[in-house]
Amino acid sequence: MTYENILSDSHNGITTITINRPKKLNALNRNTIKELHEAFDSANQDPDTKVIIITGSGEKAFVAGADISEFADFNVEEGGKLAAQGQELLFDFVENLSTPVIAAVNGFALGGGLELAMACHFRVASTNARMGLPETSLGVIPGYGGTQRLPQLVGKGRAMEMIMTAGMIDANQALSYGLVNYVVEQEGLLDFCKKISTKIMHNSSMAIAEAIKAVNANFKDGVNGFDIEIKAFGDCFGTEDFKEGTTAFLEKRKANFPGK
Ligand code: COA
Repeated sequence: MTYENILSDSHNGITTITINRPKKLNALNRNTIKELHEAFDSANQDPDTKVIIITGSGEKAFVAGADISEFADFNVEEGGKLAAQGQELLFDFVENLSTPVIAAVNGFALGGGLELAMACHFRVASTNARMGLPETSLGVIPGYGGTQRLPQLVGKGRAMEMIMTAGMIDANQALSYGLVNYVVEQEGLLDFCKKISTKIMHNSSMAIAEAIKAVNANFKDGVNGFDIEIKAFGDCFGTEDFKEGTTAFLEKRKANFPGK
């Protein structure tokens, strides 16, 4: 599949999706969001893709936000629709994907860019990365889940400060906040994410998908995460992966899981 604004490349169980509008610092316009939806969907359905990595092209930006030029003249109705459609097509979609998604934050992750990184299952940043939610400086608030996911990841007070000041934090501060799991040199960022992906791939894709569902349940209104966990735990016992995993342990060999 060919795209206008993104690249997608699959090797050794990993699909790397690269947002490719470097001249616009990979800003998310409507078409890019649509293409990202298609690329994530297709990687998730690909039985050979065990992990997805998302990054930005060029050395400067992961994503510098939603494309401001596209919504500058929107009215109330259009603004609401923009947020609702984006959340459904991309941000909620990525968060609830059954295939693990790692954000390789290779530079600016601002506004919708940080919101995309936060929708991923976890994040690794390069030393030059800068993160923030600058929307209040534009007279608007984060609309792609930022007001919800930032406090979940860094705590309410830090999230409030970041949103109110519209400022940026550097990679080390993001690390100390728990917003990213690691900070590495930019040249080694993708290789580092691929190393983590390889560790993930040794484990059961089925169990990982169930774990994503159970962890996410903790953050959903009206859902009891413990109940979701109990159900998913029980369901695992009826799978080939569980038989293989436990049998391999008892036979003192490495498990060879059947796949996605
Ligand atoms: N939407 C649309 N275009 C954007 C963009 C965005 N969010 N972020 C950057 N661009 C474009 C710039 O308009 C510029 O385009 P041009 O060359 O046609 O004029 C190009 O990307 C390069 O950006 P520029 O501002 O010249 O780079 P810089 O190094 O001086 O500054 C940033 C980098 C990230 C600090 C700055 O681009 C910025 O503040 N971007 C907007 C961030 C933001 O508010 N995001 C939240 C949106 S809700």
